[in-house]
Amino acid sequence: MRRHWLLSGVCVTLAVAAALSAPLRFQSGRAVSINLECDVCKTGVALARRLLDEGKNSLVPEVARIICLYSYKEAPQVCDGVVKLWQPMFMYALDHVYLDPDDVCGQYLGAGCSNASIPQFDYFWNISLPPNPKPPVKPISPPKSGAPRLRILHLSDVHIDALYSVGASADCGLPTCCRRSDGMPPSSKRRAAYWGDYNCDLPWWTADNSFKQIARDRQFDLIYFTGDLPDHHVWEQTRQEEIALYSGFTQLVQKYFPGVPLVVAMGNHESVPVNSFPPRYIVGNDSMDWLYTKVWQLLSPWIPADQKANVLRGGYYTQLLRPGLRVVSLNMNYGGDLNWWLLGNLTDPDGQYQWFIDVLQRAEDSGEKVHVLGHIPPNGVIKGYSWNYFKIAERYESTIAGHFFGHTHLDNFAVMLDPANQTRAFGTIYVSGSLKTSQNPSYRIYEVDGNYSGASFQVLSYSNYIFNLTEANLAGQGREPVWFLEYNTTSAYDMQLAFPQSWADLVRRFESDDSLFQKFYRFHYKLNVPSDQPSVCTGNCKRKFICHFRNARKHDKTFPC
Ligand SMILES: *[C@@H]1O[C@H](CO)[C@@H](O)[C@H](O)[C@H]1NC(C)=O
Ligand SMILES: *[C@@H]1O[C@H](CO)[C@@H](O)[C@H](O)[C@H]1NC(C)=O
Ligand SMILES: *[C@@H]1O[C@H](CO)[C@@H](O)[C@H](O)[C@H]1NC(C)=O
Ligand SMILES: *[C@@H]1O[C@H](CO)[C@@H](O)[C@H](O)[C@H]1NC(C)=O
Ligand SMILES: *[C@@H]1O[C@H](CO)[C@@H](O)[C@H](O)[C@H]1NC(C)=O
Ligand SMILES: *[C@@H]1O[C@H](CO)[C@@H](O)[C@H](O)[C@H]1NC(C)=O
Ligand SMILES: *[C@@H]1O[C@H](CO)[C@@H](O)[C@H](O)[C@H]1NC(C)=O
Ligand SMILES: *[C@@H]1O[C@H](CO)[C@@H](O)[C@H](O)[C@H]1NC(C)=O
Ligand SMILES: [Zn+2]
Ligand SMILES: [Zn+2]
Repeated sequence: MRRHWLLSGVCVTLAVAAALSAPLRFQSGRAVSINLECDVCKTGVALARRLLDEGKNSLVPEVARIICLYSYKEAPQVCDGVVKLWQPMFMYALDHVYLDPDDVCGQYLGAGCSNASIPQFDYFWNISLPPNPKPPVKPISPPKSGAPRLRILHLSDVHIDALYSVGASADCGLPTCCRRSDGMPPSSKRRAAYWGDYNCDLPWWTADNSFKQIARDRQFDLIYFTGDLPDHHVWEQTRQEEIALYSGFTQLVQKYFPGVPLVVAMGNHESVPVNSFPPRYIVGNDSMDWLYTKVWQLLSPWIPADQKANVLRGGYYTQLLRPGLRVVSLNMNYGGDLNWWLLGNLTDPDGQYQWFIDVLQRAEDSGEKVHVLGHIPPNGVIKGYSWNYFKIAERYESTIAGHFFGHTHLDNFAVMLDPANQTRAFGTIYVSGSLKTSQNPSYRIYEVDGNYSGASFQVLSYSNYIFNLTEANLAGQGREPVWFLEYNTTSAYDMQLAFPQSWADLVRRFESDDSLFQKFYRFHYKLNVPSDQPSVCTGNCKRKFICHFRNARKHDKTFPC
């Protein structure tokens, strides 16, 4: 009983810390220093412990609220909302794990706070692969000149705020702004401009106009949307609002891209509260039924009827898009490190990976190529989930022709390198930036070898498009934002074919050619490096990027930083 309440203190405190820091870390503007966060985390845990020793259990959520109010200096509505929305998940977690305070603080705040990790989150199960031997790896053949190409639009992290209000404060002191209820600014403070703000989510009309321009100006055969529709007002979200957004999004897609196949992946923001994706062993009102049944209804124009059971079970599915090209949409939230429902059983939640392997084996047997879509990239999920993804990707490298992810809001990639031969690349993890105004809005279009029998369906190149938000707002409502080609891999990186080995080579070239790396660094931030980041990335900053490109597994130290 005592342990139960002790953990509840830890969990609720952590809920506040995690809730306020993790989902908002992608917001520009607010940066709580690591030392402050670390102290708050450890103090909160110690305080909760003392209260429990004194038998004042019911005060623990109140402590979390007070820490939120006075240490994080968040507004009352934020603290009340967070403590209330997160409680069921953390109450569950506390029954299923023992958390040492330092482990907790270290897990979320990193080595600057504590190097400890939560052993349960490192728990490494090994997925079982079928006995079928891995086919010998053949080099990927470049397409013949003039061979047809398939174009794929990749959209990610749209983050629409239905309550965005022009003129509201854009610098409101809350984790995100631009709603009337977030406050109206005194004349000296920044106001929400028409097309959006770097500190806020996307107005509907900016999403609408972006879709309109994409439909008008670009050509593509397929759409991959890698998740995250809702805004970042995570302390005051309701299930109804999330569903309304999803519905609005599917209407936009139907309006501007009628008849174009759409594949979606489930973002961590799609749920309420954010990151909460209980596996099937959680039943009743806390289960995911409220979301998956609606998502199924809304997406049924695009998803084959035989995938209903998969969508309802876990928000994942597969679809044959073209003869020879299959797509698998994974729900990576089942590896999310803030999805504490997983602590009930970290082994392959809902059997998603086993299902994934079955799909891949059948694809291998019938000679199909597979594109994998997900929201959180495989190097950003908990260790067991991440390493098993890598293991599957390596086994099926000749079948998987692309890995497409989002979630970070910034432009990035990682190369999967064979642990047995570290110069051999067997996959590229593409991470596309957000449409949301985290720096400038972006989307990209891949050119893929495809749409003919025997095609590799490998990415050959991509083009990244952005618009300058500052400039769009200066021009105002009367003029559409001007989207332009930010770069393409062919000319910016001098990459003839964007095969995995070319990306491994690019990382080597980054090491020797610093100006090439600095180009990437600006693309990473969509040509708008935030003021709290170095304008030129050298030394440790560069080393971290380089080792991130090469370690495609979480907590992998194969390539030391
Ligand atoms: C964590 O480990 C790094 C080296 O791996 C070390 O430099 C750092 O001081 C450690 N931090 C703490 C808080 O122990
Ligand atoms: C899984 O495999 C890894 C690497 O081979 C090994 O270190 C680990 O002990 C295995 N874990 C389990 C639970 O079998
Ligand atoms: C189910 O949960 C939602 C969200 O937490 C809540 O609004 C609703 O009242 C709950 N319904 C029942 C029947 O408990
Ligand atoms: C956890 O889930 C796995 C896979 O579904 C299952 O085999 C195992 O028995 C479960 N463990 C527990 C303790 O329930
Ligand atoms: C390692 O991989 C590289 C690149 O594919 C290849 O050229 C080389 O022969 C491999 N080395 C060994 C020892 O297999
Ligand atoms: C690709 O193939 C599909 C069906 O096989 C066909 O409907 C479509 O027109 C083709 N698209 C292109 C760009 O060739
Ligand atoms: C965006 O526009 C602003 C205002 O005109 C300008 O200062 C800035 O340099 C532009 N950024 C880019 C990447 O063009
Ligand atoms: C890439 O961009 C350059 C201009 O920067 C353009 O000339 C070229 O046609 C583009 N290539 C592709 C494949 O889009
Ligand atoms: Zn996002
Ligand atoms: Zn996300």
